[in-house]
Amino acid sequence: MAAKDLIDKYLSFFQARGHKIIPGAPLVPENDPTTLFTSSGMQPLVAYLLGETHPEGKRLVNIQNCFRAQDLDEVGDNRHTTFFRMLGNWSLGDYFKKEQLPWFFEFLTDNLKIDAKKLYISIFEGFDKIPKDEESANIWKELFRKKSIDPQERIFYYGPEKNWWSRSGVPKNMPEGEPGGPDSEVFFDFETKHDVKFGEKCHINCDCGRFLEIGNSVFMEYKKGKEGFEKLPQQNVDFGGGLERILAVIERKSDIFETSLFYPIIEMIVRLTNKNYINHAKEIRIVTDHFISAVFIASSGVYPSNKEQGYILRRLIRRGLDNFYKLEGKNIEQVIHVIVEQYKDTDTYLVDNFEKVKNIILEEEQAYNRTLKNAREFIAKKYGTKKAGGELLGMTEISADDAFLLYSTHGLSPAQIKSLGYAFDEQEFARKMEEHQKLSRQGSGQRFKGGLADTEEKTVMGHTATHLLHKALRDVLGEKVHQTGSNITTERVRFDFFYEKKLTSEEIQKVEEVVNQKIKENLPVHFEILDIEEARKKGAIGLFNEKYGNKVKVYFIGGGLSTSSGRPYSAEFCGGPHVNFTGEIKSFKIIKEEGLGKNIRRIYAIVGE
Ligand code: SER
Repeated sequence: MAAKDLIDKYLSFFQARGHKIIPGAPLVPENDPTTLFTSSGMQPLVAYLLGETHPEGKRLVNIQNCFRAQDLDEVGDNRHTTFFRMLGNWSLGDYFKKEQLPWFFEFLTDNLKIDAKKLYISIFEGFDKIPKDEESANIWKELFRKKSIDPQERIFYYGPEKNWWSRSGVPKNMPEGEPGGPDSEVFFDFETKHDVKFGEKCHINCDCGRFLEIGNSVFMEYKKGKEGFEKLPQQNVDFGGGLERILAVIERKSDIFETSLFYPIIEMIVRLTNKNYINHAKEIRIVTDHFISAVFIASSGVYPSNKEQGYILRRLIRRGLDNFYKLEGKNIEQVIHVIVEQYKDTDTYLVDNFEKVKNIILEEEQAYNRTLKNAREFIAKKYGTKKAGGELLGMTEISADDAFLLYSTHGLSPAQIKSLGYAFDEQEFARKMEEHQKLSRQGSGQRFKGGLADTEEKTVMGHTATHLLHKALRDVLGEKVHQTGSNITTERVRFDFFYEKKLTSEEIQKVEEVVNQKIKENLPVHFEILDIEEARKKGAIGLFNEKYGNKVKVYFIGGGLSTSSGRPYSAEFCGGPHVNFTGEIKSFKIIKEEGLGKNIRRIYAIVGE
């Protein structure tokens, strides 16, 4: 079955059960302050899980392209990838366990004809004041019995480290305000031989690769409060199923890289390297995964750089090339070509972006080769070609300081430095690295906390402040000003916009005054769901990256266009959440204004001081 057919089957299954199909969010969120990439289906829907109204209703279904940088080092086994697609269905305070579990089971066994005898289930065993999920266990038992399968030995209970889902993982890592809940996962048994390297006995959560997790139903009904967990105002379902993994089950490939989705890419790498897949599976899987991710990320408008998304793209391309070169591969362009062929049915824009993406990757390859050459020259100049003896025979021994220099100025990872033939004191290197990371964390603030800041009070205040700032800039500088991006943490607001010149200090002061005046007026903030055209006609502005079919959510500050409360001060497309009254922001201060390249300016501001 082609990936596209599986997607279509899933969407129509849930559409027939009252769900509205919504488009996936962009892989690189344009206006999400808290995260570099969309890494789960739930991420763009957090506000709705917390209680905001979704324009398309309470039952939603979608396919979400996801990227998880944290899985980069896991890639190489039979099932981990950094880029993947998640089948998602959502109940926003509508149905719950007794609908969700039977539906997913029916989809797997009746629609996809997956043998129920090969399915195993994990359930939340309870933690602190949150009880064991007996209700899900009873539903699963009944479902197996109906298929004449004894549910004994099929259902296993685990604690929060396995059967609890939130964006920040286990309950103790969740910040206040973060939603989460117990989950129930479904595993498929490939009946491959257990590898004792992973423990004496095999079990469904074992890492040996015999059991593959294919879907996770999260019963999102809790929120972390000041004193432990509170119930959310509504019971939600957040289901996520790995498209690539379900495909592997349908095609009976315990190695997802051998499915019809990936194998043509593997074959191309085998051809270009003249190496056999079985003997070089790890490297070939890394090349496959990293270039798929690179194609999708570059296609989203990211360029390799030393910062944020650009840094991840650079790392993927360079790590992919390390493995490709290790296999003596040449002509990576061919790999990019097959990747686009494999994904073009579901992600048609890849075809139009092919030339651009290819050039980004090939230019980065040249830059990387120049870096390697410079690094070699730098070391040769300083150390000559002398080689160390003993264990390090054949390696040039360099100081940890110089190794760190290769990392910090040439962007080479310790593994890359070693693969160039240089040995160094790794403990000393790790110490330097820790120091460096401590410093850059103080710079990068909240961002890597795991996409959480958006529900914190200060961030919500910052979010409304960007709407006021956007409008105030237009009031002071003219209507050609428009937002090109924003990034909000609990520490500060960052706002990018189109404008040709540096702002004068008078202009900055004026903008600040306007925003503070609107805060003082304590204007009400509310949203309405409107047809896109209607919203545009009524003057709603903003980055339009929340796509809901024909409907959009518009936040109004100070009255509403379709209410009787007069003209609003600001109307913007936005997903929320926002404060209820502008007075909650307390104060607004611009701390920096700078240029970001041609015609784009950036403002940093603080709120609520
Ligand atoms: N949020 C859950 C996950 O990402 C289910 O969608 O696994």
